[in-house]
Amino acid sequence: MIKVKVPATTANMGPGFDSIGMALQIHNIVYAEEIPKGLEIIIQEGSKDIPTDENNLIYKTIEKFYKIIGKPVPGIRLIQQDHIPHTRGLGSSAACIVAGLHIANAMSHSFFSKEELVQIAAQIEGHPDNTTPAILGGMTIGAMDEKDMKYVKVPVAENITFAVMIPDFTLSTELAREVLPKEIPLEDGIFNSSRAALLAATMITGDVDNLPMAMQDKFHQPYREDLIPDMRAIMEESRNHGAKGVFLSGAGPSLIAVIKNVVAFRREMVEYLKTLDNNWQVQMIQADQIGARVWVDEELRF
Ligand code: HSE
Repeated sequence: MIKVKVPATTANMGPGFDSIGMALQIHNIVYAEEIPKGLEIIIQEGSKDIPTDENNLIYKTIEKFYKIIGKPVPGIRLIQQDHIPHTRGLGSSAACIVAGLHIANAMSHSFFSKEELVQIAAQIEGHPDNTTPAILGGMTIGAMDEKDMKYVKVPVAENITFAVMIPDFTLSTELAREVLPKEIPLEDGIFNSSRAALLAATMITGDVDNLPMAMQDKFHQPYREDLIPDMRAIMEESRNHGAKGVFLSGAGPSLIAVIKNVVAFRREMVEYLKTLDNNWQVQMIQADQIGARVWVDEELRF
């Protein structure tokens, strides 16, 4: 039996659109084993909408992996325990891709390294900011072209907590990408590139006083604001309650605040969020520093 545990991820951290992401301590667990033939998928925990046929994203990724290695896909049973909320900007699709790659790697005895899986996962997803931290943990900064992806993993300081604010409505990444402009003004390019460099350096030095500026963005947040009711107000309220930085997680609709005073922030934001039309939950979550883990017959392999 193969067991894979994959973390949630936030992408587009601050100014790092399609580049900077981080793993979070919410996990999906998937058990997989070979069966004589066919496909069996059991959803033990998670949304009823998860496909249990060939359209299942974990299975589709397994198929892609077997195509790469030029072998037929064996009969497979998958048991999913999903805890990452779907279509909320917390990397649930990336978690499926990463789970599928690790399962296929172990099942086919291919022994691809983490480095190789990072490259394949980024090419499948099309951007590296969810799949890379999902595999490696921590915060990752990645840049890619059609052939290659270069990245750096930055460990996240233990004293930083993330208040993940998750609404009861969903937002498809496809729609959230459609509203983005094809071109951006030079001054917005300068705004984001300076802040992205500052954010990367700040996560290494731990100088959190830089974060209010280092977390700013003009590439995607202003364009996605209209798709997320109360986004601007929640971000402002988070700053008023001491958040060092606050950003749209991935393509949204979840928002994440970087905080140090966990108890006060949670208490005050829970009260504030109750006043809004939609239902928002607040979860205090640390970064996952390890990334995806794989056990084969209960022995940790990866
Ligand atoms: N970087 C991606 C985007 C994350 O914002 O569209 C969602 O997949």
